[in-house]
Amino acid sequence: MTRTSILDLKAKKERGEKIVALTAYDYPTARILDESGVDLILIGDSAANVVLGYESTLPVTLDEMIVLSAAVARGAHRALVVADLPFMSYQVNADQALESAGRFIKEAGVGAVKLEGGHRSAPAIKRIVDAGIPVMGHLGLTPQSHLAFGGHKVQGREDSAARMLVEEAHELEAAGVFSMVLEGIPWTLAREISHAIEVPTVGIGAGADCDGQILVLHDMIGLGGGDFKFVKRYADVEGEIERAVKEYAREVRESAFPSDEHRFEPGTRRRKADPK
Ligand code: KIV
Repeated sequence: MTRTSILDLKAKKERGEKIVALTAYDYPTARILDESGVDLILIGDSAANVVLGYESTLPVTLDEMIVLSAAVARGAHRALVVADLPFMSYQVNADQALESAGRFIKEAGVGAVKLEGGHRSAPAIKRIVDAGIPVMGHLGLTPQSHLAFGGHKVQGREDSAARMLVEEAHELEAAGVFSMVLEGIPWTLAREISHAIEVPTVGIGAGADCDGQILVLHDMIGLGGGDFKFVKRYADVEGEIERAVKEYAREVRESAFPSDEHRFEPGTRRRKADPK
């Protein structure tokens, strides 16, 4: 089994094959995604909302992200594993960005990092790439800037904002990103950027003409998560957990669980599968 590399993703774009990406935040889901053939697994800072219960992505810390990323890296052996640099772990200067990225590589064992922003993030991207760490960019509705945007609003609708995003996509490519997320922008603009640059674009709320797609796992499997226009629900995991928990609770209350098959008999020889 060979691990997907940044070159494999570029080759996919050249062949016109779509890149499949999803987020994961723990070992078991990383294992499932990996075995299902997902190309890229992102430990998104969406972990803040999705699994840590924060109101936005802003509070999650680098230490918290490293714990989650290490668990994902232990579960994924085929996909490229990318960790998201959280808010204020790279904005101060390029040195801070490199130190944070380096911790993800050394302590969590991931294969690449992602960070948000265009023009203002280019020096940090260049510094990290120069140290030999692959970087994924992120343009458009970048959630770490939601306070500055006045909310989670679609970006690049006006012509001047769209021109700026095209320019920034070129700038990120020149800084050395191997790929970039395009989030929450009109599909026509995402198509234009995807055609204009050589590195693959991975879209979320950016239409079908990106070189790949990413969703927050919990949104698409119906486990908490948000109900957004750009998300398709492929499962109802929350409903299934609720069903199982209610059935377990009923059986415990009725003394139907544990049944004879789930108990240990006295004085019998231990079978191989029995716990010690
Ligand atoms: O944090 C995240 O999950 C992300 C993806 C939505 C791209 O940045």
